[in-house]
Amino acid sequence: MPSVHVIEHPVIQTKLTELRDFATPHAAFRALLEEIAMLMTYEVTRDIPTVPRVVQTPLEKTTGHALAKAVTLVPVLRAGLGMTDGVLRVLSNARVGHLGVRRNEETLEPIEYYKKLPPDIADTEVLLIDPMLATGGSAVAAMTYLKSVGVVSMKFVCLVAAPEGIAMLNQHHPDVPIYCCAIDRQLDHRGYILPGLGDAGDRVFGT
Ligand code: PRP
Ligand code: URA
Repeated sequence: MPSVHVIEHPVIQTKLTELRDFATPHAAFRALLEEIAMLMTYEVTRDIPTVPRVVQTPLEKTTGHALAKAVTLVPVLRAGLGMTDGVLRVLSNARVGHLGVRRNEETLEPIEYYKKLPPDIADTEVLLIDPMLATGGSAVAAMTYLKSVGVVSMKFVCLVAAPEGIAMLNQHHPDVPIYCCAIDRQLDHRGYILPGLGDAGDRVFGT
């Protein structure tokens, strides 16, 4: 079973409720998604490994911390892009790879259409980012590809997860921890999350 972390901080939950609201226009939706992603990053990185780092203060030497490994963010296009700048506000040195995956609207099967990753991604801590975990098909495809290029340390960061998607990840990638803000009730007959927030990509980009 993947570990599933539901981040229940009230500030995040109030922003998530605004995102769910059908009346929230795309500019506000974009801003809220970025803010939530930034706030989630504190929780997602709580156990990130560090190594000692010696610095000279104006008064003396002291030993603090540095991240043990570089971090790579991998947003799943398109909607994952809406979270990227928020995460980068916390992890400003992170590199960003991109994976284009979209669902076939009839079969709900993932279609991979774009891949561009940093060449040394295998040596980094990877945060795979996509606001929606619905059937889990897109996340499974993305994780399978990342493992095929050597990624060994990865977390999946989403906003809203469906129980069906969590079960799918449990079946295919139980080693990848999931971080989300809510586990919703179920999928509808078109594969949309209920209550959900609609089509995240369309709402981020106003399409
Ligand atoms: C959405 C979402 C996920 C996927 C989740 O993307 O951003 O990538 O659906 O669904 P799944 O768990 O059933 O695979 P979509 O395919 O709508 O593409 P878009 O971001 O370009 O709109
Ligand atoms: N993708 C979305 O953007 N929303 C859903 O509810 C399901 C998949």
